[in-house]
Amino acid sequence: MKNEKELRKEIATLVSEFYQTKFANQKYIPGKSPVRYAGRVFDEKELVSLVDSSLDFWLTEGRYAEEFQSQFADFVGVDYAILTNSGSSANLLAFTALTSELLGERRLKAGDEVISVAAGFPTTVNPIIQNNMVPVFCDVDLGTYNVKISDIEKAITSKTRAIFLAHTLGNPYDLDAIVELVKKHNLWLIEDCCDALGSTYKGKHVGTFGHVATCSFYPAHHITIGEGGMIFTNDDVIARAVTSFRDWGRDCYCKGGENNTCGKRFSGSYGTLPKGYDHKYVYSHIGYNLKVTDMQAAIGVEQMKKLPHFVARRKENFKAWTEGFRAWTDKFILPEATKNSDPSWFAFPVTVKPNAGFTRTELTDYLASHQIETRNLFAGNLLRQPAYAKVAHRVASELANTEIIMNDSFFLGTYPGLTQEQINHTIKLIQEFLTTRALKR
Ligand SMILES: Cc1ncc(COP(=O)(O)O)c(C=O)c1O
Repeated sequence: MKNEKELRKEIATLVSEFYQTKFANQKYIPGKSPVRYAGRVFDEKELVSLVDSSLDFWLTEGRYAEEFQSQFADFVGVDYAILTNSGSSANLLAFTALTSELLGERRLKAGDEVISVAAGFPTTVNPIIQNNMVPVFCDVDLGTYNVKISDIEKAITSKTRAIFLAHTLGNPYDLDAIVELVKKHNLWLIEDCCDALGSTYKGKHVGTFGHVATCSFYPAHHITIGEGGMIFTNDDVIARAVTSFRDWGRDCYCKGGENNTCGKRFSGSYGTLPKGYDHKYVYSHIGYNLKVTDMQAAIGVEQMKKLPHFVARRKENFKAWTEGFRAWTDKFILPEATKNSDPSWFAFPVTVKPNAGFTRTELTDYLASHQIETRNLFAGNLLRQPAYAKVAHRVASELANTEIIMNDSFFLGTYPGLTQEQINHTIKLIQEFLTTRALKR
């Protein structure tokens, strides 16, 4: 009979073969195949790793989660990386951790004001609302699609306690200016890097400027594990609070399968519990369970190895779109990297100018009819979304550009699976659209 090692090897060989049969060599046929805005990019290694982890049948966080977290922390350059089941959960945990009693008087409290933007993804703002605080909305600049710094300055009051912003579509915001405001007004800074893994500002990874940061591993993002996210920080107290909120709110920090890491499992005193109450069942936060399985982490371990190449490909594709759109600056506002930054672009966002002779929707509809995927800048203006109609908030200054983005902006993909051939095909179609429009006028 074969032993475990031999069987694992045989299974891995078969899984590689399976990959070749099912996924390798997918042909792109211009005009017939869709041009996607995003997608999973993987090879046999992710499948082998996933199956290997399933053979452990450990199921919950284990050796692969440990490795993935450590690879991620090394890549970004932080002390702690904590895995969770989505970017939205990462945002909820990162923000909620700042309400922890562990932070003493510095902790966030209900009613505090938190600065953000309305032109973005809902779950950057939702944790503010879910923690009974008040989001304060600033406008953004067209082109960078990031917050207007002058608006933040105007928005700050004695109630302001934090800034929670995403690096829009991978483009870092002006971190020099924001960090200065954070220091001056003693605020917390939460960096949503869900769309910005690999982006740098003055040579340093985004997510390392604020107090805590987040990432998403949903398939559209820079690396994927299906559903997943990461919280990362250099602050050990925040890391402890994040882990507690993620793991049911428990006080104990033993890893799965471990016991008595603190050495006082049956001898501590907590609240009004009897002395020596089992630390495993002591709850110091009102928590959730937002953990992942080790099978998801096993995919992440292989995706991390590809990340530098993915980042390079995103930058190449962004450059190729820029070349393609260069002749049309009378019709579109093209995206610009924030000064001092090197974005690992999530997408190529454009805004249709008022005198272009067509609307955003006419163009995206035309592209969709030719199987070219586009997306709007997520929620457009969050305040116009039905769910936010009754949410307590403050608008710091007129959201004029946010409105323009809702009406006139869209983005094309930059993901590593997108090829120059697909970009050329799309550019040709847009040229045809523009020519037909010009003839009609
Ligand atoms: C900026 C931003 N934050 C948070 C999220 C949420 O991530 P997830 O889909 O993993 O929950 C997304 C999702 O795309 C996002 O774009």
